[in-house]
Amino acid sequence: MCGIVGYLGNEPVYEKVIKGLSRLEYRGYDSAGMAYIENGDLIVKKCKGKVVDLENVVGAVKPLSHIGIGHTRWATHGVPNDANAHPHCSGDGSIALIHNGIIENYATIKQELMNRGHVFLSDTDTEVLVHLIEDVRNAEGVSLFEAVRLALSEVHGAYAIVVIDKSNADQLIVAKKSSPLVIGIGAHDDFYIASDATPIIEYTKNVVYLNDDEVARVDRKTGLTIVNIDNQSQTPYIQALELRLEAIEKGGYDSFMLKEIHEQPRSIEDSIRGRVNLKTGLIKMSGIDEHEERWKTAQRILIVACGTSWHAGLVAEYLLEDFARIPVEVEYASEFRYRNPIIYPTDIVIAISQSGETADTLAAVELAKERGALIFGVCNVVGSSISRATHCGAYTHAGPEIGVASTKAFTAQVVVLYQIALSVAQKRGVISNERTTRLMAELGSLPLKVEQVLKTNALTESIAAIYQHCSNALYLGRGYSFPVALEGALKLKEISYIHAEGYPAAEMKHGPIALIDENMPVIVIATEGASYEKVVSNIQEVKARKGQIIAIVTEGDKTVKGMADHVIEIPRTDDSLVPIVSVIPLQLFSYHVAIMRGCNVDQPRNLAKSVTVE
Ligand code: AGP
Repeated sequence: MCGIVGYLGNEPVYEKVIKGLSRLEYRGYDSAGMAYIENGDLIVKKCKGKVVDLENVVGAVKPLSHIGIGHTRWATHGVPNDANAHPHCSGDGSIALIHNGIIENYATIKQELMNRGHVFLSDTDTEVLVHLIEDVRNAEGVSLFEAVRLALSEVHGAYAIVVIDKSNADQLIVAKKSSPLVIGIGAHDDFYIASDATPIIEYTKNVVYLNDDEVARVDRKTGLTIVNIDNQSQTPYIQALELRLEAIEKGGYDSFMLKEIHEQPRSIEDSIRGRVNLKTGLIKMSGIDEHEERWKTAQRILIVACGTSWHAGLVAEYLLEDFARIPVEVEYASEFRYRNPIIYPTDIVIAISQSGETADTLAAVELAKERGALIFGVCNVVGSSISRATHCGAYTHAGPEIGVASTKAFTAQVVVLYQIALSVAQKRGVISNERTTRLMAELGSLPLKVEQVLKTNALTESIAAIYQHCSNALYLGRGYSFPVALEGALKLKEISYIHAEGYPAAEMKHGPIALIDENMPVIVIATEGASYEKVVSNIQEVKARKGQIIAIVTEGDKTVKGMADHVIEIPRTDDSLVPIVSVIPLQLFSYHVAIMRGCNVDQPRNLAKSVTVE
């Protein structure tokens, strides 16, 4: 959470910082701020609100400085207000700092600093860090670079920081631990620093991902210097970015969310391409091929993830158990890491994360690694922390997902997990060639089927218009559709602020049925398949209590049509692939309801795209 940017070069910093912050605003939008050096002064502009509010604070006269830093905040310590907005400054006003992460021992350090006369203006942990750096620099008489390193060796927690010093308009100091940070190296001795590559991509493709516990100095004269926290010199590893600029722009859509929903035929296709060979009937996934014996002999698979990625993990549980016949446990990463879980060295742990930066998932990966398990990552962001922390993995090729509500990442995750399940089933010899070939062909037909479902947009919008004012909604599904019910409910609540619950359809009668009356929309995934008739009975139970049924059905369905208030037809596919198709109308429904309620679908309140704090 929080987005940070920094620039040191030959051009005015203002546009670079504002543009960079706009690209990173999905990471948090409680406040925005920037600092730059002009005529020997360190100027800080910041305010509660979004990047556009910061632009108003700066006003018509734009800074001409060629060095600066910027921040967009998701509040952890202290409410969103002007004082808590970053950058924060040292007591003498000579140093400004921006931070993404949490300094866990800030209270102890703050008390010590106050005892030494430091006065604080905010409630943040970040302000403590910049005062600590000032304190160390003054006490030890060292350079800022060294003071940052020494100060960081006293802090516990997570940070990506950029520090600017009034007395040196030629350098920025950068450091990272457990929060993402990338340094772009331009062609003209210019440097771009950011939480992810999106603010950098239009200036340079050469980037260095800082590792944990590294401190770097970018300097007009000496270039990039990196040391670790023990002051040992590190060689920068320069990588080429593969990101395209068009991928991070709205491309004519009103919102990133709508664009990303409509990108799914392509993102699904991209996540299949090169892996499925219909001629040989084989699936090629290097993370599985290279560890074939481990996959063949694994007694158990653990899946760790959060939010939507956890829902994709639930679908994977059904797939892996059904196809590969391996017992699977799906864990919330946040619960897993704190309950001393039993992890055997023979276990395989699959970590699923769109951003690859989710703090809880990353910590779960580290824990499982310490216990000897093989860690397989399913991430969307290339080079992200989780993708680097895992032993092997498979990327989802969804492209950048910028809307806070996950849409195309979910379907891409399920597609990749589907291929993993099929591949492992083949290696273990527990699936027939005939079944694999049929499922592979079905998988290949998904982009077209998803294209077809997207045509229900107008119908879905008209249903959303009817229910836009509801206060509660219930989502029901069974088998493969249960995780979809959870995902549909999450989408509605996170972007429209309507309370929604997802339930296994048969569980309804064990409690939630008490909620049903004529005002309650019940969204049911009632596609043909193993539990179709049971779900039809559940629909009747809802109708008997005057609930309003919105049913997702297989094309040509007659039974449910006769009892539901609204039906949305989706193309026929194998039961195991229904989640990828049936989730689309649920995404569209949430989108339209949220828009009709005047909500910001890309930046819903209180949320951030990348949850890099616990
Ligand atoms: C879903 O719409 C949310 N954005 C959220 O639940 C998200 O899936 C969760 O925070 C996990 O993120 P990750 O996939 O980047 O790890």
